[in-house]
Amino acid sequence: MKRVKIFDTTLRDGEQSPGCSMNLSEKIIIARQLEKLGVDIIEAGFAIASPMDFKSVQTIASSVSDITVASLARANKKDIDCAWDAVKNANHPRIHLFLATSDVHMQYKLRMTREQVLQTISEMTAYAKSKCADIEFSAEDASRSDREFLAKCFSNAIAAGATTINVPDTVGYSTPQEMGDLISYLMEHVEGIANVDVSVHCHNDLGMGVANSLACVKAGATQVECTVNGIGERAGNASLEEIVMAIKTRRDFYDADTNIDTRQIYKSSKLLSNIIGVPISPTKPIVGANAFAHEAGIHQHGVINNAQTYEIMNPDEIGVPHRALVLGKHSGKHALRERLETMGYEINDEQLEDIFTRFKKLADQKKTITSSDLEALTLYHSGIVRDEREESATTCQVVSHAINSSKEAPKIAYVKIKRDDEILDGVAMGAGPLDAAFKAINNMLGTDARLEDFSVRAVTDGEDSIGEAVVKISSVSTGENYTGTGISTDIIEASLQAYVNGINKMFEESR
Ligand code: KIV
Ligand code: ZN
Repeated sequence: MKRVKIFDTTLRDGEQSPGCSMNLSEKIIIARQLEKLGVDIIEAGFAIASPMDFKSVQTIASSVSDITVASLARANKKDIDCAWDAVKNANHPRIHLFLATSDVHMQYKLRMTREQVLQTISEMTAYAKSKCADIEFSAEDASRSDREFLAKCFSNAIAAGATTINVPDTVGYSTPQEMGDLISYLMEHVEGIANVDVSVHCHNDLGMGVANSLACVKAGATQVECTVNGIGERAGNASLEEIVMAIKTRRDFYDADTNIDTRQIYKSSKLLSNIIGVPISPTKPIVGANAFAHEAGIHQHGVINNAQTYEIMNPDEIGVPHRALVLGKHSGKHALRERLETMGYEINDEQLEDIFTRFKKLADQKKTITSSDLEALTLYHSGIVRDEREESATTCQVVSHAINSSKEAPKIAYVKIKRDDEILDGVAMGAGPLDAAFKAINNMLGTDARLEDFSVRAVTDGEDSIGEAVVKISSVSTGENYTGTGISTDIIEASLQAYVNGINKMFEESR
């Protein structure tokens, strides 16, 4: 059986898409989770893009141990030097070099001839190889490139030392049959291809990113580039969870396997969604809330008799928590730890203490605590996230609030906040109750945060469910964007904490 490597680019191609940006500590949390998930390669960023990107790649390179850490670089010495500086301390560093090979890109973007492109590939791959043993070369817009020329580009890259060649469908234009045919063609026409990994990188503009990637696996690709929840430029990249579960569920067809611990998929997906504040569509395959829900009577009847009637995967293998009632007001720490462990959360005693306190508080507000409640407590509030954020622990927290939102009177908010050991409070008026509260917070903390987007939704079941607020803010002075999330059974409290969490991130970055 063939082993397919999973190259995760959530922190590069995913993170560069609008609304998906992460700060350093959040990237480290994701990188560590990707390591637990079992990906083979993490593309940690594009080191030359900004000093922050460089620092992220460098920090991730020394934060993970077993997996390969790659930085993207254009085909020039400055980019390559910067990428190498950022990844060189990783146990397994990789430089990921790219240059466009389609006529439209060469003519209008690069303004280079085919000859110049071929020569640059040889020279820059050799230059990167003089620094790093593991070199990936990507032919940007490969799927719209002339095939014969593309084969020559890859042959040059291999001759100069590339150990992986990547075939991107950069604009998501190809069909599965075309991508599969292209891989078969390259297998026959690229010199030295048998000695390197053949990778694919498919965007999802026509909704075929996953299907295109799988067609390439069938045709012989040995590496797939993808992102958690399919985040990425425009319509996103091929989704990691869909590719991995297709290969696993249809092993009979693909005759392939990956190194992914599929029980970590659900947690990885939730963690990312929580950090970037981008909810997962209920019908998203594998990780959507409805992926294993059976509504129709006939289906329910079939599943009760035998799950295989309507379920092609077992939710347990993806780590989907059981929705059944699990704990109540009188449950102890032992039961809580056991339940969290079955949900994939390894917690130490201090973290258990923290979650237990929150659990008891929640149990006073809610009749029953389900796995979804526990997941919300753990992901959104718990010591697990806070510990991994290390020095960037939350600095401000909402203590209490009183808001007048009556139609006749002006909207006034009073908010009390704890900043480190200090208690601050303030009052403001606004166009609406939350506008008033956010203004009061800005005045108190001396920030210039501007609200860009705001949403609230129930993240657990029942009328006493937990509400999650996601607040996107920007700094008026720097133009930078930040996402804050907050949860509570009181949605006003969730909203205020989300706003303050966004500001905490703003403070963290300015340190
Ligand atoms: O989509 C693309 O072509 C890329 C390359 C840089 C690999 O992201
Ligand atoms: Zn891409």
